[in-house]
Amino acid sequence: MLSSVLLWFCVLLIILLLKSQRPKNFPPGPTRVPILGNILQLSLDNPLKDFERLRKTYGNVYSLYLGSKPAVFINGLEAMKEALVTKAKEFAGRPQDLFVNDTTDRKGVILADYGPSWKHHRRFALMTLRNFGLGKNSMEDRIHGEIKYVIKKLEKSIGKTMSPKVMFHNASSNIICQVLFGRRYEYDDKFINMIVQCFTENAKLANGPWAMLYDSFPMIRSLPLPFRRAFKNVEICQKFSKQLLTEHKNTRVPGEPRDFVDCYLDEMNKRGEDGFFSEAQLSMYVLDIHFAGTDTTSNTLLTGFLYFATFPHIQERCQQEIDKVLNGKDLASFDDRHNMPYVQAVIHEVQRIANTVPLSVFHTTTQDTELMGYTIPKGTLIIPNLTTLLNEEGQWKFPHEFNPENFLNDQGEFVKPEAFMPFSAGTRMCLGEGLARMELFLIIVTLLRKFKFIWPEDAGKPDYTPVYGVTLTPRPYSMKILLRETQ
Ligand code: HEM
Repeated sequence: MLSSVLLWFCVLLIILLLKSQRPKNFPPGPTRVPILGNILQLSLDNPLKDFERLRKTYGNVYSLYLGSKPAVFINGLEAMKEALVTKAKEFAGRPQDLFVNDTTDRKGVILADYGPSWKHHRRFALMTLRNFGLGKNSMEDRIHGEIKYVIKKLEKSIGKTMSPKVMFHNASSNIICQVLFGRRYEYDDKFINMIVQCFTENAKLANGPWAMLYDSFPMIRSLPLPFRRAFKNVEICQKFSKQLLTEHKNTRVPGEPRDFVDCYLDEMNKRGEDGFFSEAQLSMYVLDIHFAGTDTTSNTLLTGFLYFATFPHIQERCQQEIDKVLNGKDLASFDDRHNMPYVQAVIHEVQRIANTVPLSVFHTTTQDTELMGYTIPKGTLIIPNLTTLLNEEGQWKFPHEFNPENFLNDQGEFVKPEAFMPFSAGTRMCLGEGLARMELFLIIVTLLRKFKFIWPEDAGKPDYTPVYGVTLTPRPYSMKILLRETQ
């Protein structure tokens, strides 16, 4: 009896071990355990260091099993370019069976799979953002309009220390809210603070330990575990979108759009029932863009001001250049960047070091394909590790330190190395890049022109290690605000 149980156990073990083998010519990776995959080999709180360690062992294209699901990690410029640029279409899919898909009801644009609905919505967003003044003055006016409130907030703190977190999150949220809904909210508005709180919380939950367990072990998905919180947050945000949509439907004049939502409703009327544009899509679509435009820009700003306060010589050099170029001018314009090579270098260096979306948004392969000689079947989960470009040795003069020289040539001119891809690249590249770059430039230049930001004497040594999530967030900090004398 015992020997037959042992025999069956051995047979089962052999089957599981055989099943654990990677398919032929699949990217290499550590041996996986049946059922669990490689999950025990990762720090679920922040696996970025593990991913770097695995890259050193297995090379720029390796695989890991999240439960029984294989994921291919892409690292370094060469492999990233082959996947996202040369083979853009083949790597342009999005997974549809993850935690994030379940929380967002498979609607919206960020997580939409490669196909006609995604294409129509992406094209519509790009066109509408452009029509609302991306690259033109009206978007600059909106951003400057919001900066006035940031200035007011900072003026109240002159001579004191303040934490910039809520202010930058609300400012970024307001800029995108103006585009989407034609309205902004006061920084102490309870309602918008709750929405922004939902965004920031979900950005941590979406690839945190519970999401990883949810993705790896489908059997736990209906259990009342902490990942339920993310569903609740989306529900709260959906209520907010739907309320604004109803307001828009009741007050709009067809053909005279006031904002993005009106444009969408016009487009819906024009298209009729083509199955792509619908109200259900719209409420998640605007939420996607609101979320994508809030937590990214604000965390980049927070990183920027952390470094400005702790690298005063870099802050001062920016201020000298800003004073010189804006001499006598009332407001900075986005075009001024061409005359500010140092400021441009600093802002790009902030983005490089901030590494705001470290693992991009996950992709999938849309067909059987190859990458760096490996075979990758259709539907494979692809994780583009953008971190590995932003600090890749050989691509940067100073890959591991905050140094604007990374973006300056010997003549002091601004140059952008190819490995600078914080917005990713190719078909799925960030569609808000233009808006984000304009926001970062105008906000940083205007605030550095007017104020001096100081690391408080009693604040101890700054901690630059960010908190992990879909977006990396600087640890909470406060800075002292002074009004500049020369302006
Ligand atoms: C510093 C700010 C920002 C950074 C670093 C950033 C970064 C990214 C990255 C890495 C992706 C994933 C691209 C891929 O899958 O290959 C992405 C996608 C996206 N971003 Fe941004 N983003 C920023 C700001 C914005 C803003 C302001 C908006 C709002 C208009 C926005 C809207 C989107 C959307 C809608 C997508 C999904 C695109 C698609 O799937 O086709 N982002 N972003």
